[in-house]
Amino acid sequence: MILDIINKKRLGEELSYNELDYFFNGYLNGDVPDYQMSSLLMAICINGMSDEETFSLTKIFIDSGDVLDFSDIPGIKVDKHSTGGIGDKTTLVIAPIVAACGVPVIKMSGRGLGYTGGTIDKLESIKGYRVDLSDKEIIKQVHDIGIVVTGQTADLVPMDKIIYALRDVSGTVSSIPLIASSIMSKKIAGGADKILIDIKVGNGALLDNKEDAEKLKELMIKIGEVYGREVRCIISDMNTPLGYAVGNSLEVQEAMDILQNKEKNNNLVNLCYELATNMVSMGLEINISAAREKVEEVINNGEAYNKFLELVKNQSGDINKIKVSNNKKYLKADKSGVLKGINALEVGKLSLELGSGKLSITDKIDYSVGVRLNKLVGDTIKKGDILATVYYNKKNIDADINKIFKIV
Ligand code: URA
Repeated sequence: MILDIINKKRLGEELSYNELDYFFNGYLNGDVPDYQMSSLLMAICINGMSDEETFSLTKIFIDSGDVLDFSDIPGIKVDKHSTGGIGDKTTLVIAPIVAACGVPVIKMSGRGLGYTGGTIDKLESIKGYRVDLSDKEIIKQVHDIGIVVTGQTADLVPMDKIIYALRDVSGTVSSIPLIASSIMSKKIAGGADKILIDIKVGNGALLDNKEDAEKLKELMIKIGEVYGREVRCIISDMNTPLGYAVGNSLEVQEAMDILQNKEKNNNLVNLCYELATNMVSMGLEINISAAREKVEEVINNGEAYNKFLELVKNQSGDINKIKVSNNKKYLKADKSGVLKGINALEVGKLSLELGSGKLSITDKIDYSVGVRLNKLVGDTIKKGDILATVYYNKKNIDADINKIFKIV
């Protein structure tokens, strides 16, 4: 039976709900070994899945764990998910903005994956910040202050946890139906009424072309329809890092700067405004321009920043204890010109090498290291200008500026 299913998919045939259920639950129960699961995942990667198969897989994922119910909490709960990028700290910015606009925010975030950092790792750079709230604590906190940002509870889509870990090491991450069922199962089981997805495209993202991003978008909207959930998708660029900072503490500091209106009009700020505006529009059922006005209002009057401080305090974090390494190295321009590109993937690799993420499962994250860009794409550069500051603790980290920066 196991081999029949693998062979069927290898030949590009459609699998039934029962076949998928048998195989995936067999893996969850330990009856199907890693090598056979990897083999099926690779066949799915190569031959794809029909919509029906993707709907079946999403259901199998959802049914593998708890389905949370936040219907007691008044208001429309809007969740947001990013497919992952370099310097993507949008959740830290938009969650407090949206909550300050009166939309309840229950955000269960993940850890870093590959070169991309995770929101939960970023928040853990704030000393004491708890990312392990129970269902009861989540509900109490949303009632009290209207916002929670925590890790996924252990019983939320356990199937995704093990399949994701296997995809990560079997070259099967970039499959549209697998990404769609992974994301949508977590959002639906997580109790969201409406869902906003930020699909990243570029060299620092899982998908590197717009056509695939469009296909993922259509598929996630269809899955949303099956479950009666409104799904909106934004397709955004991930060839360049988002904003100035890459690395956990540095990113929290940058998020705080945006919430205090100290940074304006760069790729990160613009994306945060777009995402927050859409969430407020969905949550309050108002049009985009009315939602945008509200977003600007809570930034300008300080309510969004205060909501962030309230969130950190409620989850036991000490905002005065965010450590950035004192060891700095400056990357300087070796010629003059215009900065035409900053390679997201190379910045992600450098930050990971510094210790901001895990290279192996036993690594410990160094929250205090990372890269802070000094210039953004489009800036005029003079030879000798500082392009970026590298915060490090380990010795001998080499950064090849010509791989990262394109000055023409
Ligand atoms: N994010 C997820 O949660 N799952 C994927 O498969 C890809 C990105």
